[in-house]
Amino acid sequence: EKGGYDHFMLKEIMEQPDALEDAMRGRVRPEDNQIHLGGLHGHWDQLREADRIVIAACGTSWHAGLVGEYLIESASRVPVEVEYASEFRYRDPVLREGDVVLVISQSGETADTLAAVREAHSKGIPCFGICNVVGSTIARETDAGVYLHAGPEIGVASTKAFTAQVTVLSMIALKLAEGRTLSKAELADNIRALAGVPDKVRRVLNASNGALQSMAHTYRYASNFLYLGRGYNFPVALEGALKLKEISYIHAEGYPAAEMKHGPIALIDRSMPVVFMAMKDSTYDKVLSNIEEVAAREGSVIAITDDKDAELESLCEAVVEIPQTKEFLSPLLTVIPLQLLSYHIAVLRGCHVDQPRNLAKSVTVE
Ligand code: F6R
Repeated sequence: EKGGYDHFMLKEIMEQPDALEDAMRGRVRPEDNQIHLGGLHGHWDQLREADRIVIAACGTSWHAGLVGEYLIESASRVPVEVEYASEFRYRDPVLREGDVVLVISQSGETADTLAAVREAHSKGIPCFGICNVVGSTIARETDAGVYLHAGPEIGVASTKAFTAQVTVLSMIALKLAEGRTLSKAELADNIRALAGVPDKVRRVLNASNGALQSMAHTYRYASNFLYLGRGYNFPVALEGALKLKEISYIHAEGYPAAEMKHGPIALIDRSMPVVFMAMKDSTYDKVLSNIEEVAAREGSVIAITDDKDAELESLCEAVVEIPQTKEFLSPLLTVIPLQLLSYHIAVLRGCHVDQPRNLAKSVTVE
């Protein structure tokens, strides 16, 4: 049942190339330059013409929502807000005609996320869903939506659901961008890039699993970790920190890289590993200067990059190289080494990877 792996979590990490292919099957169509998402058929104008899209979710799904904010805003120019479902539902949120709520939930049963659906409906606001579990309560109660088709996720720590959620959000963004912010040629280029992601994920898994396992040996006794990223990779920093906390019980925090100067830098010393997403994109120069600041304080820098050059190597204790992709797709690749690092550290620390203490796969209490 674990497909030859020791844990469901590792199986689910390793099956991400297939899960993403399944999530895209028949939907991402480079052959006719189309994104086809039947579940939202008839609702595209509602989304394109919305005054505002409010995304509500919890945990890892909330992190996917943050990536979705960047994706959808840049593609559609519709303002997006991302809310913790638990906050949204209790504060009598301002919702007006023209707003659209989008909830994201792997299980489709998270109590607070379900309450957000009901909150939207009680105010007459349309609510769409992105769920993995077919026929789940949230899938049934939302007006329309998209299934992940990622297959069952058994490990409590969400891995393939996150990448499938970001994949679905990328499809939604490209569909919204069609005829708006992207020309036909640009759309085709982006659709091809999205279709190419599963192979790149496969390459990351094959190339970096061994290295991350040995890095896990080096860092397993750390008691704090910091994860930093900018732009599309800021939510990935949050996700990397959450993965480490929940399965290895090591305290970790994720921040937008530039926020480091506003507090967390005080924590940095020799015993503090700092994981940077350092992709050679529009954020690189700024990220590099943050890396220099950490190195100057003797922090141990681990960098995830698509261009391992001598300068970066001289500043870092470890560099994990991943394939290049378009900036908006990079979370789908950068998160993979972070999942593997948490997994291997948790195993070395003797933790119950698939069933971490105090956690449940679906949180049906508020
Ligand atoms: C983290 C994790 C949780 C869930 C959260 C929402 O690895 O699994 O943070 O993401 O409980 O669950 P769903 O997506 O089922 O609503």
